[in-house]
Amino acid sequence: MDAFRITGGTRLSGRIRVDGSKNAALPEMAAALMAQTPVQLRGLPQLSDIDNMVTLMTELGCEIERDGEDVRIVNSGNGSWHARYEIVKTMRASICVLGPLLARYGKARVAMPGGCAIGDRPVDLHLRGMEALGATVELDGGDIVVEAKRLKGATVFLGGPFGSTVLGTANVMCAATHAEGVTVIESAACEPEIMDLADMLNRMGASITGAGTPRITIRGKGSLQGCDHRVMPDRIVAGTIAIASAITNGDVIIDDFPYDHLLAVIDRLNATGVRVHREDEAQPASRCTVKVTSDRRLEPVLFTTQPYPGFPTDLQAQMMTLLCFADGNSIVTEKIFPDRFLHVSELVRMGAKVYRQGGTVVVQGVQRLVGAPVMASDLRGSASLVLAGLAAEGETTVSRIYHLDRGYCHLETQLNSLGAQIERFDPDATVAASEDKIKSTSY
Ligand code: EPU
Repeated sequence: MDAFRITGGTRLSGRIRVDGSKNAALPEMAAALMAQTPVQLRGLPQLSDIDNMVTLMTELGCEIERDGEDVRIVNSGNGSWHARYEIVKTMRASICVLGPLLARYGKARVAMPGGCAIGDRPVDLHLRGMEALGATVELDGGDIVVEAKRLKGATVFLGGPFGSTVLGTANVMCAATHAEGVTVIESAACEPEIMDLADMLNRMGASITGAGTPRITIRGKGSLQGCDHRVMPDRIVAGTIAIASAITNGDVIIDDFPYDHLLAVIDRLNATGVRVHREDEAQPASRCTVKVTSDRRLEPVLFTTQPYPGFPTDLQAQMMTLLCFADGNSIVTEKIFPDRFLHVSELVRMGAKVYRQGGTVVVQGVQRLVGAPVMASDLRGSASLVLAGLAAEGETTVSRIYHLDRGYCHLETQLNSLGAQIERFDPDATVAASEDKIKSTSY
């Protein structure tokens, strides 16, 4: 299991481009299951989650050709409709094949995703959506089994105790493209990844309006064709790089930055004193060039994670790390995954003063963090520890980097191109080498 050795204290500067979005790419790859002709997806990030999805889609009978950041997916329609636990357990997002398989084959069997480090992640809303479209839903041997002779358009309410559901909205939207009549999703997720998926589905011949708002209307079409679609830039990667620049008092130019998808984050960064400046107003706000600079101590701020367009839960940990360097007390409230705080105790090991009570954390700014060995336990929490290491005095090792590799494409290479000093290494190999040395020098 790889780890990072980070030598902190370097001010980041230079230019970098944001990769395609993992959370848009995964449901879009799944949507390709419904196409009668080839789907070409462009600008996919090179991540282990994408590799897992390729494995799953191949097992479902798709032919997949990869060429760098592009992938061509063909589903001849003779494949399987069973997503096995062995694959689903490696990636919860596998649940996004449920709607597309039901649409294409009239049935789907998908292993129920299990526990998750960031908290409970039920799928009741996904299932409610499938039932509303006329499917039967059963649990059999740990698998969700959905079946429908004919899907029928309906009004589907997808609001839950923590807001809507992103992948649940993706699943219902996909299934509804094959339903007879009109489906209206009320309390739909408004996340940009849903807009990007709707855009792709419309290119495949679907008729979807309202994506990006809480009411999405889908007119069922029966069958869909292939398309050529470029995946949107990853707003969470973009936000993480912006915070990396800010936390090192850096000066970084970021290309393909989805500015209008990050307004809540930019608002909070500005409130701390970080500047995010659009370099060319003529570029589209969803893919533009910005410069992120910060050259003084930061102001403390309050922020609460919320469904889009609120502050994204996927940037909570990274922003919390930045606020460790503010002059005063900040308050962070997590409203999507109230237990998503695995990074807190690791930050404390580096000298942070962060106090958690339930879903709220008080961050008391400190003059400095000090490098320490810390352990990653989830994807975004890992990113926050890397950011802490960049700004800390001395050396930080972040172990279990495989969590990070699920959502960031060679983050160390990207940050090193801006001047960071991060080395990837295999701690087990290092231990083995030193044991060998001890053996060879013992009598
Ligand atoms: N929820 C329910 N019932 C459901 C589904 C969700 O109560 O049937 C609850 C969840 O427990 C949570 C809230 O609703 O409290 C939102 O969950 P959602 O379903 O929206 O999450 P998701 O679709 O499974 C996606 C992203 C996550 C991101 C969340 C929230 C992908 C592949 N994953 O998950 O991304 O945190 O939306 O924005 O799109 C990440 O990239 O690190 C990540 C975890």
